[in-house]
Amino acid sequence: MALQVIPLAQVGAEVRGFDITRPVSNELAAELVELWNKHGILLFRDQVVTPENQIAFSRIFGELEIHPLAVTTSQEYPELFVLVNEPEKEKFMTARYNGIDLVNKLDWHMDLHYTGKPNRGALLTAVVCARKGGLTGFGDLAKAYDALDAGTQALIEQLEVTYTFSMQRRHMRFADLVGYEPGPYSPRKPSDIDFPNFPEVAYPAVVTHPVTGRKVLEICEQFLERIVAPHKVGLSNDEAVELLMRLVTHTRRSEFHYFHRWQPGDMVLWDNWRAMHCATGTEPGVERLIHRTTIRGDKPLGRMVDD
Ligand SMILES: [Fe+2]
Repeated sequence: MALQVIPLAQVGAEVRGFDITRPVSNELAAELVELWNKHGILLFRDQVVTPENQIAFSRIFGELEIHPLAVTTSQEYPELFVLVNEPEKEKFMTARYNGIDLVNKLDWHMDLHYTGKPNRGALLTAVVCARKGGLTGFGDLAKAYDALDAGTQALIEQLEVTYTFSMQRRHMRFADLVGYEPGPYSPRKPSDIDFPNFPEVAYPAVVTHPVTGRKVLEICEQFLERIVAPHKVGLSNDEAVELLMRLVTHTRRSEFHYFHRWQPGDMVLWDNWRAMHCATGTEPGVERLIHRTTIRGDKPLGRMVDD
């Protein structure tokens, strides 16, 4: 199989000439890993995906994680994380945006970021595609870093930023809250969904990717809280908030984004140490089923704030 690599419009690349049902040689596996590291976001289309071949394919990129949310993993395949819209459960994942109810809308984030040890990557495959909505957005934070001016790059190299987990958006200082209302069944505390309490974690505002050496702007709006000790670099608290708002606004620029509208047979693999992602959500009652495998992160990128 000779692979063709077609860059997507802004970030990431589509890989053609790959067939998940065929054996993968060591050479091909190495080529795929290299493409993943180079582009950060890879799209494959027209694949005949089964749980078995999805798990085997994902293992090319590293050891797999059993997701901490046990209720959402498949019993038969514990490596598979099942993202499903079901009428019974969706009321818990429903919130209101400018008067419209949306299920499973998620702000820009990196997975497991709130633990200080994000997973290395993940693969999504579409089992049932939403008939309307349900897009997944990806944002390349290495390109976002590269596009900052030199002064901002030098300033933020000296900074740490913190993230704190919360169930609703009202606590999030940098997410877009205009028109947002939690739904009547939105969880209010982590224990409502059998989650533990996560302590605040701090990351360098610029993380050097442990594998590729690329500098990554470690800013995404979900759970972002504050700059640690901004006065040490001469910033007041108000200037620190302004700087974070400016950086979040920067990450929202469409030139760093790819929004995927799912079709049967699609697979998207991303580097979770480099790319953030978001979900546009669907209207209530829209059927959707996504299978996800998670590639474990073998080192922490952040630290716990133990004050
Ligand atoms: Fe996610």
